[in-house]
Amino acid sequence: MTFTRIDDIQMAYTDTGIGHPVVLIHGYPFNRSLWNEQVEALSSSYRVIAPDLRGFGETDSSQGSATMNRMAQDVAELMDHLEIPRAVIGGLSMGGYVALAFYKQFASRVRALILADTRAQADTAEAKQTRAQHAEKALSEGMAGIADAMLPKLLTPETVSKHPDIVKRVRDMMLKTKPEGAAAALHGMAERDDLTSFLSQISSPTLILVGAEDAITPVADSEKMHAGIAGSRLVVLENAGHVSNLERTEQFNKALLDFLESSV
Ligand code: MLT
Repeated sequence: MTFTRIDDIQMAYTDTGIGHPVVLIHGYPFNRSLWNEQVEALSSSYRVIAPDLRGFGETDSSQGSATMNRMAQDVAELMDHLEIPRAVIGGLSMGGYVALAFYKQFASRVRALILADTRAQADTAEAKQTRAQHAEKALSEGMAGIADAMLPKLLTPETVSKHPDIVKRVRDMMLKTKPEGAAAALHGMAERDDLTSFLSQISSPTLILVGAEDAITPVADSEKMHAGIAGSRLVVLENAGHVSNLERTEQFNKALLDFLESSV
């Protein structure tokens, strides 16, 4: 594990393997260990970079909202530091919001795009209110309540009943998250732009992945992105929920490797 200074924060990241660079951006409220199995599967053929976003994992938190644009700038600055002009940019859920914000700001630095269990739409007014409540709850009570409320939405009922290892892994990641980092990201997600009409401007090869049972960013959201991004590839992973890379690791990795082989 390595750290570098990005403006006001110290950022932790993994940088493993040799080959075309692939940046994997984790979701909320997780950290870069979300990608351990993908880092392992890809790093024999690619250089895989997985940062802890602002306020998550071992990266410092900052004051105010952690906007998707700010997090995308952090990723771009990390790429500068690593002397990577252009990379495949992939993200899951909030990581997908960051990947889209990255594309919007730095299109020429995107070799290909991977959007997993995410959406292009902004939050509804109701979702914004819930984010504000969760931010207050995280700051006043810590992450346990948030983790318990989120777990059944993150994983399929089958994963919850038959895979205590995955449940523990996801819960532990959430419990390790700093409440101030979670709160800043919740405000940042609530402020994000609606990028639906921007999708038609995406010309990089794009892979869209989604768990068939994703309860947070359902298949319909991925179908909208697929319809909006010309030439994009949509893969629906059966028996997977929102954290589809952990619930169907083999199928997820195969889809990634097939896509990378054909587009990079
Ligand atoms: C995530 O997994 O990153 C979040 O659940 C996304 C969201 O809350 O919109």
